[in-house]
Amino acid sequence: MRILFIGDVVGSPGRNMINTYVPKLQKKYKAHVTIINGENAASGKGITEKIYRSFLEVGANAVTLGNHSWDNKEIFEFIEDAKYLVRPANFPDQTPGKGYCFLNLNGIEIAIINLQGRTFLPPLDCPFQKADELIKEIQKRTNIIFVDFHAEATSEKQAMGWYLDGKVSVVVGTHTHVQTADNRILPNGTAYITDVGMTGPYDGILGVEREAVLKRFLTSLPVRFEVMKGREQLSGVVVDVDPKTGKAQKIERILINEDHPFLSEF
Ligand SMILES: [Fe+2]
Repeated sequence: MRILFIGDVVGSPGRNMINTYVPKLQKKYKAHVTIINGENAASGKGITEKIYRSFLEVGANAVTLGNHSWDNKEIFEFIEDAKYLVRPANFPDQTPGKGYCFLNLNGIEIAIINLQGRTFLPPLDCPFQKADELIKEIQKRTNIIFVDFHAEATSEKQAMGWYLDGKVSVVVGTHTHVQTADNRILPNGTAYITDVGMTGPYDGILGVEREAVLKRFLTSLPVRFEVMKGREQLSGVVVDVDPKTGKAQKIERILINEDHPFLSEF
């Protein structure tokens, strides 16, 4: 089974890249499943129903979120009905939405879990304990488990990768918006990368308009962050998982921008 995952989509530049390249990437890699992190998809903050639906229309099977899940208030109107929208599972029990979902692909089930880190981010339930709790339940149905761990600290993301090695098929880190080059298969068969990277503006600072970020650093004054316009990029990974064992076989990085042009063939 081949899984295509696209990292944090930021605003309209990110959505443009999704619309242009997801169909091409699905064709190139013959992906069976496509998952998109959409927590920054609406002007950098949250997601709307229209954007969620547009991701499904372009070929996504599931959309994951993160610390910006609630930034666009529209989320509260549609999250309960959005079958393939997953917010971090370690929010309190009464939080709207769900922390994991199942996909059925020609009889093969895959579970998608979203978790959020607690280092340099608001306090939540323990993501490690929550992962254990969910995996125990999920394994009654499938051993193909994909985890999007949305976290700030590289150490926390690496810790999750090692903690879940052999318990899940894939652990991808999201949130820090810069793709890391440490994609690997851990010894017990879990595919891992510390951060998949961001899909959106290529020339901003983590997707944000440069001038405002520089002003913040240079003056420490409050500034309003807007999504950068101009050149665009896409960051993702493609992972092969043995559907019988749930073990990952290969994880490859995808980066598309003017310095790393898309090649339609391998
Ligand atoms: Fe985030």
